[in-house]
Amino acid sequence: MRRKLVVANWKMHGNLVLNEQLFAAYIQKLSLLSHVDIAVCVPYPYLAQAQALLKNTNIAWGAQNLSKDAIGAFTGEVSAMMLKDFGASYVIIGHSERATAYCESDENIAVKFKQAKSYGLTPILCVGETLIEREAGVMQMVVGKQLDAVINAYGASIFADAVVSYEPIWAIGTGLAASGEQAQTMHEFIRSRIAALDKSAAASLKILYGGSVNPQNAVQLFAMQDIDGGLIGKCSLNAQEFEKICRAVA
Ligand code: 13P
Repeated sequence: MRRKLVVANWKMHGNLVLNEQLFAAYIQKLSLLSHVDIAVCVPYPYLAQAQALLKNTNIAWGAQNLSKDAIGAFTGEVSAMMLKDFGASYVIIGHSERATAYCESDENIAVKFKQAKSYGLTPILCVGETLIEREAGVMQMVVGKQLDAVINAYGASIFADAVVSYEPIWAIGTGLAASGEQAQTMHEFIRSRIAALDKSAAASLKILYGGSVNPQNAVQLFAMQDIDGGLIGKCSLNAQEFEKICRAVA
């Protein structure tokens, strides 16, 4: 039985003062929720703050990106080992906001996935299609290709105990979430693609949904069989809303 997971993606929001308040509100509101795993992915400079304030709580923390390389002359990059130094458990990989803005290829993203796994971080691999791709009916082809970049490089077994987040690009930050059925169809497709190659990896893989999740739509989304939780942007910046989303997990 997979435990549900709700992850906050703060994106490029916050500062030391605001984070302190938000972390305190998270701890106050979420500390009694034992039915769900909870994590928050913060901008790099605030990993130390997350570690200081969240250690010994039920809230794990992580980053929003990492380098595909282990160490070396890579100015501006942050390695998996550095994230581990600050107690990170999770790292978001291939978020569409990065993939588009910084031209990350599926192949690069696959290497980052492997890098995270090698250092004991749980990768949260983001996949998803654009609106044009959905309207053209090729969304499964697009997501399949994103998964195949990892599968072809490292085999399906690398998905054991990892996290994939289905984030349709048209749903991110638009207020227009996928319906439970739309998301379930894609989640089932993702799981079966892995299961065809490695049943036990597919069974342990958590597949989150991300894209305009709010306290209202979370109940329907999280009730779906293959939706193992959510990756939450905007609503994670409000502790009350985030708590409601975590409570929406049955
Ligand atoms: P929103 O919840 O703001 O739509 O963001 C989703 C997202 O990108 C999570 O990674």
